[in-house]
Amino acid sequence: MRGGWTVNVPFGDLKTHYSTYKKEIDGAIARTLASGHFILGGELERFERDFEAFLGTPYAIGCASGTEAIYLALAACGVGQGDEVITVAHTAVPTISAISMTGATPVFVDVDRTTYVMDPGEVERHITAKTKAIVPVHLYGQMVDLDQIKQLALKHKLYIIEDVAQATGAVYKGRSNAGTFGDFGAFSFYPSKNLGAFGDGGAVCTNSRENFERLMMLRNYGQSKRYHHDIIGINSRLDELQAAILSVQLPFVGQWNERRQQIASRYTTGLANKVVTPGVSTHSSHVWHLYVIQVDNRDALQEYLMECGIGTLIHYPIPAHLQKAYSYLGYKSGDLPVTEALADRILSLPMFPGLTDEQVDYVIESVAEFHKTHEASDHRALATATLETTHR
Ligand SMILES: Cc1ncc(COP(=O)(O)O)c(C=O)c1O
Repeated sequence: MRGGWTVNVPFGDLKTHYSTYKKEIDGAIARTLASGHFILGGELERFERDFEAFLGTPYAIGCASGTEAIYLALAACGVGQGDEVITVAHTAVPTISAISMTGATPVFVDVDRTTYVMDPGEVERHITAKTKAIVPVHLYGQMVDLDQIKQLALKHKLYIIEDVAQATGAVYKGRSNAGTFGDFGAFSFYPSKNLGAFGDGGAVCTNSRENFERLMMLRNYGQSKRYHHDIIGINSRLDELQAAILSVQLPFVGQWNERRQQIASRYTTGLANKVVTPGVSTHSSHVWHLYVIQVDNRDALQEYLMECGIGTLIHYPIPAHLQKAYSYLGYKSGDLPVTEALADRILSLPMFPGLTDEQVDYVIESVAEFHKTHEASDHRALATATLETTHR
């Protein structure tokens, strides 16, 4: 198959995505431009009310990015210098950037080796008198077991800020949407996310009116009304163009997530016994932002797939606690064994709603072919080694 491939499978395809919804999106852009209102206007308000209805939450506010969504939520809790915030190192580094922006210290716990998300059993021993909040990350589209986190939060009086950047539309125990269980839910609308803008964007949701009012001020220079700065805030607003584009796309998130689920089960069936397929917990729906496998010879597989015309990525090759920027925290190799082992073994296969079954099957066949060749060469290596030992 290598060299003679006919099916190209990109890792993502936002160009085709845009062309599929071009008419509606172009209409929304034209409407916004004609309005002459670009910041904090009707488009944002409409999107915020629609997003609240989608989540089943009383309050959602748009902001400039997922990173700032986490930051705003932490700031609304009063998290700052001298505080500790517990999260995972197996995440996109922006989760940690947001904690650092408040001046607080990130504290890392390990993840589960099959579901890849925060291991709730690891959290309690990291709680100290300085701990103020927990940030569970619903990584790859799969939710952390929040009941256990909630018990700890109640016991130790901690805030929960769910990082929902990769899990828009997931549902916990059939009752609450991702983001609505904790004190705050922080969303990213980075273009490739399950609900993506055509630029940067994010949102924070909360069940509390008081928190909502604080978030509204924090995202807009701390103003309660124009030129009245009651608290110290920043500029983190979701602009009208992005809000209008998001409003067009929001009604499709459910069907896109269903397509992601179909693709994931096709992968899981086809790849069984060839690679380690992702573990799925029973407590939440999985919305498959990413489909992440584990293999021993990850780099060789990635290169092979590239030669087959298949795009893959690694989410993430260097865990946060071993990043140069966080060396001041004093972590070293071996501190988070599962996180570190995963970083060497994981590979994200193409996953977006526009993938065809033919493309998915081609990825499966290519992985199978690599597995066959590798298994054969492993057996050959083993046979040679045995022969050498026998003849010594
Ligand atoms: C888990 C996670 N948290 C936070 C973020 C930050 O979102 P944004 O890129 O919108 O700032 C991302 C995006 O990459 C993410 O994947």
